[in-house]
Amino acid sequence: MSNLSEAQAWTNDVEHLQQASVPAPAIASVVFEGISKQFAAGEGAPRALHEVNLSIERGKIFGIIGRSGAGKSTLLRLVNRLETPTAGAVHINGRDVVGLNAAELVLLRRRIGMVFQHFNLLSAKTVWENVALPLKIAGLPKPQIRQKVDALLELVGLSDKRDSPPSRLSGGQKQRVGIARALVHDPDILLCDEATSALDPETTHAILALLKDIRRRLGLTIILITHEMAVIREVCDNVAVLEAGQVVETGEVWRVFGDPRHAATRSLLRPLVHDLPEEWSARLRVPELGPVLSPGSIEILLDLRFTGAGEREPELGLLFNRLGALSQKVSLVHSALEPIQGRMQGRLVLAVSFLRSQGLTSPVAALLETARSFADKVEMLGYV
Ligand SMILES: Nc1ncnc2c1ncn2[C@@H]1O[C@H](COP(=O)(O)OP(=O)(O)O)[C@@H](O)[C@H]1O
Ligand SMILES: [Mg+2]
Repeated sequence: MSNLSEAQAWTNDVEHLQQASVPAPAIASVVFEGISKQFAAGEGAPRALHEVNLSIERGKIFGIIGRSGAGKSTLLRLVNRLETPTAGAVHINGRDVVGLNAAELVLLRRRIGMVFQHFNLLSAKTVWENVALPLKIAGLPKPQIRQKVDALLELVGLSDKRDSPPSRLSGGQKQRVGIARALVHDPDILLCDEATSALDPETTHAILALLKDIRRRLGLTIILITHEMAVIREVCDNVAVLEAGQVVETGEVWRVFGDPRHAATRSLLRPLVHDLPEEWSARLRVPELGPVLSPGSIEILLDLRFTGAGEREPELGLLFNRLGALSQKVSLVHSALEPIQGRMQGRLVLAVSFLRSQGLTSPVAALLETARSFADKVEMLGYV
């Protein structure tokens, strides 16, 4: 049996298993079930992963985020069995891959492409040869190799660099070669381990756009690990937050961004959250201390959060009108509202002033109540 028909047999086998169990659209592509990983033996040895349960649906771009050492790479390497779990199962298209023998592993790894942070290209070979190498090793006939490599270089936009050595390429171009090489066996799953972490923001954007395009054209499942929330926001459908080897939060990206539950998630999101402009934070007096006793009017700062969970977009015009009717003046202090997966979410900070003669408690209560009918969370930051 040739290598190619073996690979086909493996796929058929998997398809057969799928049909036997759950209908295709409902079945998850990758399922981690009770995964633990300890690198050193013994009771007290540190655990790189602990009781990880995660389902990654077919055709999704699934992000795994966490700080350095959280266990992201270890988790990813379980998918193509570069690591073996200490406990638990990894199901790929319904099949547990933990017990595969050496020959089955070769076939499994062809179904799974991998892209690395530092590209891992061979410097003595050209772009074309780097992409062709896995096909040569697999023993494919030359005309087929030529056809495949040419098509992939076209897909990643590098046809004109085919004869260059990697040293003559930019970081973004090197990663395009890495992506083309990962796709040579028409994988079902693409694993990206910090694939954009060595790139500048603009190149990151271009590579993420390429990944989205590849997912759309080839319909594969992409599992992407990163320590940057901006990457998750840009390309992922779903996200899992890994902290000290455990999944602490998971869900659709817009949900997790709109209403982060775990401290680790909030801390990873912090670089994306804009704080109050300096001129306002310097003047802010916290509610517990009460307002500065100035004559005339009092100004309060309201912090409105939009999680994106609402059916419709927030009606900002109406919000300003209603607040305006209850006060002397409403001004915009800070706004960071943007659509994520088509849902408007973020934060709006407003300064609202009213006359001291109106008292304090009832105007503040009325303003808060009105704001709460528009936003998912409203907090009074204090007086200015
Ligand atoms: N081959 C290994 N041998 C021993 N410890 C390892 C090995 N690989 C990873 N670790 C440890 O497992 C933990 C998770 O590592 P890793 O999965 O690389 O995290 P991340 O990719 O999130 O930075 C770390 O404490 C790391 O030191
Ligand atoms: Mg890592």
